[in-house]
Amino acid sequence: EKDLYILGIESSCDETAASIVKNGTEIISNVVASQIESHKRFGGVVPEIASRHHVENVTIVLEEALKQANMEPKDLDAVCITEGPGLVGALLIGINAAKAFAFAHNLPIVGTHHIAGHIYANNLMQPMEFPLLALVVSGGHTELVLMKEHGSFEVIGETRDDAAGEAYDKVARVLDIPYPGGPRIDQMAHESDEAIEFPRVWLEPNSYDFSFSGLKSAVINYQHNAKQRGGDINPYHIAKGFQDSVVEVLSTKTLRAAREFNVKQVIAAGGVSANKGLRTELEKIFNEEGIPFFVPPLKLCTDNAAMIAAAGTEMFKAGKRSGWDLNGRPGMEL
Ligand code: KG4
Ligand code: ZN
Repeated sequence: EKDLYILGIESSCDETAASIVKNGTEIISNVVASQIESHKRFGGVVPEIASRHHVENVTIVLEEALKQANMEPKDLDAVCITEGPGLVGALLIGINAAKAFAFAHNLPIVGTHHIAGHIYANNLMQPMEFPLLALVVSGGHTELVLMKEHGSFEVIGETRDDAAGEAYDKVARVLDIPYPGGPRIDQMAHESDEAIEFPRVWLEPNSYDFSFSGLKSAVINYQHNAKQRGGDINPYHIAKGFQDSVVEVLSTKTLRAAREFNVKQVIAAGGVSANKGLRTELEKIFNEEGIPFFVPPLKLCTDNAAMIAAAGTEMFKAGKRSGWDLNGRPGMEL
């Protein structure tokens, strides 16, 4: 069989990225331009600023991805582009760049789901085995996804309010930690040997859904009350208490689902899967359980285009093609 070289482009949030992946499994080049510095002073991603940066960066990352791969457009088989979910203005810039590039070089385009991308980041590390359970945790998502085969996604649980990463970023804000605060809270939790006891939100006994807004409020209330009493507030103890609660709920529900659906592999995906506390706990419980557990290296956990090319390759192989009327879908379902 002929090798497939796929160009992936990602621009759904605050990274502009392009990558070339061989056969959906091997990274040839992977270029990411991050905008974090521009959004920091606003404490979050500002959509209009994101769009402007994407406009400035998209051709640069695209050319750089080709250059690093030492390839020309004619060596490619398709262009895979994040269709959604994400910020509509941001999505449209990547989509229009993908369309222009594909049209100019006579290549097909394949609209790809961002979360499918996060999951398929794992396929760049080791072959995915089914049934597979994916815990997707990012700034915008918290989902347990059951996959019975390539390209099939069943969301068995999701957040009913804040995403895990969103909760991290909001708690960070309360503790005066700059955006995105997730990595710093993770680090502080590790440096603390004491934890404030915050609630674990389990919802109904059989539910695989999550809820993090109550936990976030508990942290805010704790700090507010402590301040009013004039007592000492130790942000390290708060960080560890918060992280312990998030990690316990995420890992307990993931283990229960892995058992119920008898999965052959468990993977973690999305920005929050970079979390050391979460990785360590999931590694421990699935090691004890005897189910292979994987999480991609940091660089592939956060937004990138190699994951889009990896997911898109499977869609392309299954015959999916998008038309020139491809549009951004901010609320696209998996
Ligand atoms: O997947 P991602 O790069 O972008 C989205 O698609 O949302 O995830 C970004 C999120 C942010 O909320 C960030 O705070 C969080 O992932 N994050 C972390 C860690 N690293 C990134 N949260 C907790 N611990 C970390 N080490
Ligand atoms: Zn993401």
